[in-house]
Order: sequence, then C-alpha cells, then structure tokens
Amino acid sequence: MAGAGRVAVVTGAAAGIGRAIAERLAKDGFKVAALDVAEQTGGRDITGYRADVSDRAQVDAALEAARSELGPLSVVVANAAVALQQPFLEMTLDQWNSTLAINLTGTFNVVQSALPDLVAAGWGRVVLISSSSAQRGAPNMAHYAASKGGQLALTKALAMEFGRTGVTVNTVAPSSIDTPSVQKKRDAGKMPSAEQMATFIPVGRTGTGEDIAAAVSYLVSDEASYVTGQTVSVNGGSFIG
Ligand SMILES: NC(=O)c1ccc[n+]([C@@H]2O[C@H](COP(=O)([O-])OP(=O)(O)OC[C@H]3O[C@@H](n4cnc5c(N)ncnc54)[C@H](O)[C@@H]3O)[C@@H](O)[C@H]2O)c1
Repeated sequence: MAGAGRVAVVTGAAAGIGRAIAERLAKDGFKVAALDVAEQTGGRDITGYRADVSDRAQVDAALEAARSELGPLSVVVANAAVALQQPFLEMTLDQWNSTLAINLTGTFNVVQSALPDLVAAGWGRVVLISSSSAQRGAPNMAHYAASKGGQLALTKALAMEFGRTGVTVNTVAPSSIDTPSVQKKRDAGKMPSAEQMATFIPVGRTGTGEDIAAAVSYLVSDEASYVTGQTVSVNGGSFIG
C-alpha cells in the first residue's frame, strides 16, 4: 500500500479539507499525525496533536511527540490556515501579521521542523495547500492571497534546494471547496450559495475535501517522484490559464 506504515503529518486536520486529507492518507496506509489548534477526535491510524502552527515551540513539541509515538516523519501536508475577509484599506497591521504568521510562517515552521527526518531517510513528500486566490487574486483578502502566494514561491524554492535528496515539494491550489468554514461564511451572507457558485464552475459543481485529498494522495505516492515544484490546481476547471 502507498503509505506502507510511513508517518504523514497533516496540519489543520480537525476539520474540512485537512480532515479529508488525514482520512485519505490513513486509508492509503500512512500513520497520520493530525495537528490542529482546535480539539479533535482521533480515528483509525489518525493521532491528534494540539499545536498552533504559528508557534514554533508548539510545532516542535507536537512533531517530537509524533516521532516518538509513531516513528520518523516521511510526509508533511501544510494545510492549516485562516481566511478572513477584510477590505484592504481597513485591514490592520495585526490582522495582516496574524494571517501571514499562521498561513505562511506556520508553513515554514512545520516544514522546517519535519524536513530533517525526510532528508535523513532519502525519501519524503511535502505538499502545501495554497489557494486559487494566489493565482488570480481575491478582493478583501489581500493578506490571505499574499500568504498563499508565498506558499507557491516557497514550493519552488524548496523543490530546487531539496531536489537531490529524494524529497519532492508541491502545492495543491483548491478553489470553491465545500467545508464547514465556507458554510459558516455562506450562513453569514458573505459568500454565494454552492448552487450559485456551481453556475460559474466549468464542471458544474463545487468541490469536496475528498477532491483535494485525492490530489494529495497522488503527490505523496512513490509514483510521483518525478513531480516537484508544481502547483496542481484542483478547481473544477475554473481559472484555466
Ligand atoms: N475551502 C475552500 O474553498 C478553499 C479554497 C482555497 C484554499 N483553501 C485552503 O485549504 C485549506 C483548508 O481549508 P478549509 O476550508 O478546510 O479550512 P477550515 O477553516 O475548515 O479548516 C482549517 C483548519 O485549520 C485549523 N487551524 C487554523 N489556524 C490554525 C493554527 N494557527 N494552527 C493549527 N491549526 C489551525 C482550524 O482549526 C481548522 O481545523 C486552507 O489552507 C485554505 O486556505 C480552501
């Protein structure tokens, strides 16, 4: 089986896309260390660890616990993020900094903390979960789009730096995925309904966490060893170009 008992770290795994990725990788045969700032339930081959990805000491402690309980780390999926909507001219420096701290520095923290295991083993997979917002922009989400754009550049830099170590680094860029946090925004009238969004999506539907998890499952497989530095856009055909 693809995972073959290897250990995969997934951040932001308590809900939404992260949860779907954790469940898919567990099904693929990985032992999953599920990191989240929120309380979470475990699952078959999923062990929960509480950590705020923007806090390096918490990340290091959670990964150290995962290593000693599950074994050396082989896969890192940096998925944890916040996505607040704030008009640019009203955005405070604190709001800008906290989005960058969680989405981009949080990615740095978890990838840098885990990477020595992958390099030492001569095999590893890093997948960052970015967003179509980095590819086409997003009004009222400048901090979010900038943080997600940072992940795209980080992917390319790390792919080149670690190309000869057996570690690949790729990004999945989702768009219009139905998750509980998206539903909350819909309920608050901040986003159109799934049906309205579907009319603008070429395949005629919004996406699911499982759609993203399927792409991640491929990128972390042995077969994907010649794929690195890439962005896989999982968006139903939106924003082709
Ligand atoms: N849903 C979409 O349509 C969509 C579109 C494009 C990109 N994305 C990206 O996909 C990823 C997941 O999105 P989602 O919709 O499932 O989000 P979500 O808000 O439903 O889940 C995010 C998870 O991250 C956790 N988290 C937040 N801050 C954290 C922190 N500081 N430390 C640790 N965990 C933290 C939350 O507790 C939550 O469990 C994000 O990176 C998001 O930017 C989502």
